[in-house]
Amino acid sequence: MKIEFVGSVSGPAAVAVLVHEGQDFSGPARQWDQAAGGALGRALKGGRFTGAKGQSLTLTAPAGVEAAQITAVGAGKRDGFDDLALEAAAASAFAAVKLSGAEVLAIDASDLSPAQAARAAFGALLATYRFDRYRTTEAADKKPSVTTIQVVTADVAAARAAWSSLEAVAEAVFFARDLVSEPANILHPEEYARRCQELTRLGLEVEVLGEAEMAKLGMGSLLGVGQGSVRESQIVVMRWNGAGDDSRPLAFVGKGVTFDTGGISIKPAEGMEDMKFDMGGSAAVAGLMHALAGRKARVNAVGVLGLVENMPDGNAQRPGDVVTSMSGQTIEVINTDAEGRLVLADALWYTQDRFKPAFMVDLATLTGAMIIALGLDYAGVFSNDDDLSEKLLSASKATGENLWRMPLPAQYEKQIESAIADMKNTGGRPAGSITAALFLQKFVNGVPWAHIDIAPTAWKKDGRTPTVPEGAVGFGVRLLDRLVADHFEG
Ligand code: BES
Ligand code: MN
Ligand code: ZN
Repeated sequence: MKIEFVGSVSGPAAVAVLVHEGQDFSGPARQWDQAAGGALGRALKGGRFTGAKGQSLTLTAPAGVEAAQITAVGAGKRDGFDDLALEAAAASAFAAVKLSGAEVLAIDASDLSPAQAARAAFGALLATYRFDRYRTTEAADKKPSVTTIQVVTADVAAARAAWSSLEAVAEAVFFARDLVSEPANILHPEEYARRCQELTRLGLEVEVLGEAEMAKLGMGSLLGVGQGSVRESQIVVMRWNGAGDDSRPLAFVGKGVTFDTGGISIKPAEGMEDMKFDMGGSAAVAGLMHALAGRKARVNAVGVLGLVENMPDGNAQRPGDVVTSMSGQTIEVINTDAEGRLVLADALWYTQDRFKPAFMVDLATLTGAMIIALGLDYAGVFSNDDDLSEKLLSASKATGENLWRMPLPAQYEKQIESAIADMKNTGGRPAGSITAALFLQKFVNGVPWAHIDIAPTAWKKDGRTPTVPEGAVGFGVRLLDRLVADHFEG
């Protein structure tokens, strides 16, 4: 998709204007209405359009203007019209015209600030994402016709300046969405690591650990999960040193189970195909590193991805096996389908041991129970640090990537006590997401830490914002980028 900032619209574009609720008709909407001899106003009055969020109304082939069509997009109430509402309106504009036949969508933001013009481009661009790599045929009328998004602004140079860092974030979100969308026969741990290594072109340092190195480090917990797969497990370490000093890095750790069959504790067939997205946490971390490097963030950060495939096999780990983690703590594996925590146990320990980070945030599609607790619109955050947790919640508000804080009550640790090892990897049905988080906490060695269970939000099935098309969300990239930008860059 081409993004352009322009001073005015020319040619047969599909023009979009934002109209606030209550039809307070002003700015570009009024101007386009006048140019079209009042036709837009008449169309709006005659219909049910109120300017509410998500609404749109298109006037085709209007007389008096060169534009092919004019679309009024509901922007919601003028009161409380913030960046997120603007992104959503611009995304709705794209959704309304993408199949219209027009090649250029021109969003008229000439009454908004240059920063808002960039924000409109961001919202519209995020809505254009599709994963069509494996389509060899597609009906012409199903293919989006729009190839260029223009945003009309009074100050093109200032809008472009504001755009550069937003563009870097959008590219990073798309990188994460691509990883999550890829089927698991293509994106196995080694291919995943290769794609991360390509990010050295952005100035990231990327290092890959194979099974031999992990065995030397004593990562029996992670290695046990991958032991039934013909694919070699990998740990990817991505570093961005943008602070210009040697301050402690911020650390981000991701669950990267490229496919989760459940292992010997095998999952039911129905819906198992969803488990290609069981690497969504690691994709968010890779996407974050992409964003930080892309916009040259003034921060030191490290991203650690634990990449494994969880398969049943003659060599797979069994329920009842006991493994020794890098921390030295032993784990009785009650259920081989509770594998994410086994991967993160070693990835977290390794991260704090090697990098001595200021804090660690891990992301993981860790538990189905998180979906039962929160539904599909919220990820859960668990933390041993109120300050870090508050910062994450404020980044959540600013980006619309919803988080809800969950408790970490020590008394529930009883549920993961083992009769023969230091702990077991499942805690039964009650509070399944919490006992998983309590398990992880045993591997953070007291470092400030937050765990984000993104099982609900990694894949969009319904009901969220227009900036997220159905499918891979890339959840966490915007959230973490905002966390860093708002609190940790100079
Ligand atoms: N990857 C799953 C969790 C999951 C389920 C994510 C559905 C997204 C949608 C995880 O590895 C898993 O299988 N967890 C088990 C844990 C249980 C065995 C204690 C679960 O949630 O059932
Ligand atoms: Mn599992
Ligand atoms: Zn899993």
